[in-house]
Amino acid sequence: MHELDHYIYPHRVLHWLVAGAVLLGLATGLTLGFLGYERTLALLGNTLTNLLYTSHKTLGIAVLLLMTLRIVTRLAFVVPDHDPPLSTFERLVSTSVHHLLYAALVVMPLLGWAATATGGFPVEFFQWHLPGLLGRHEALSQTLFMWHERVGWALVVLITLHVAGALFHWRIKRDNVMKRMSLFD
Ligand code: HEM
Ligand code: HEM
Repeated sequence: MHELDHYIYPHRVLHWLVAGAVLLGLATGLTLGFLGYERTLALLGNTLTNLLYTSHKTLGIAVLLLMTLRIVTRLAFVVPDHDPPLSTFERLVSTSVHHLLYAALVVMPLLGWAATATGGFPVEFFQWHLPGLLGRHEALSQTLFMWHERVGWALVVLITLHVAGALFHWRIKRDNVMKRMSLFD
């Protein structure tokens, strides 16, 4: 097996951990966003509502930590070659989507953190309360939550494009793109 068929193993593990955490983060976040605090409370009760908020924040902070490691593994190690090479169009689209995903995955947790802290709510990571770092500011919190929602929808679009592209390479073009990120072959 050619060594440069794959990203280095830790980078591949980070890809799939982030993918799982982001999908769960979006699922929990959209549930909270659609229902809002009052209806979530009426539907799920106190304990489950708190669990949903804590899980969402914990997943988001985990994404931030994993992305920090991932930026290191992406920049510090060689990226495998495409075999066969991608067309100019494929390279342009995939690189743009990848860069936008990286940006969104760092910005999203920071927005969530800042919106939560300025709203006067605890920034929770598992059972720990992280420092809010920003003072209470109602109006700023609302603006930051609005951007948290907008970037969330942008993330849904980017992930849809990304997964469609991955499936196209894997099932239709049948080139080595899926293998580059695969944990198993
Ligand atoms: C990759 C990380 C994250 C993703 C993908 C994400 C995604 C989302 C989405 C899509 C919503 C629904 C927005 C709406 O419809 O109003 C949401 C809401 C929320 N997020 Fe995040 N989030 C992330 C990280 C965080 C972090 C780190 C925190 C705080 C520490 C946080 C706190 C919240 C809170 C409190 C809400 C509920 C807002 C409301 O009640 O309207 N999020 N999140
Ligand atoms: C759901 C959240 C996901 C996110 C945020 C995400 C993000 C990314 C990013 C940013 C890259 C660029 C390579 C790098 O890490 O430097 C990448 C590569 C890749 N992803 Fe995902 N991904 C997700 C899910 C998936 C899924 C579900 C699949 C498969 C169906 C997939 C297949 C791939 C493949 C094959 C590559 C390698 C592309 C290449 O080397 O050109 N990803 N992913």
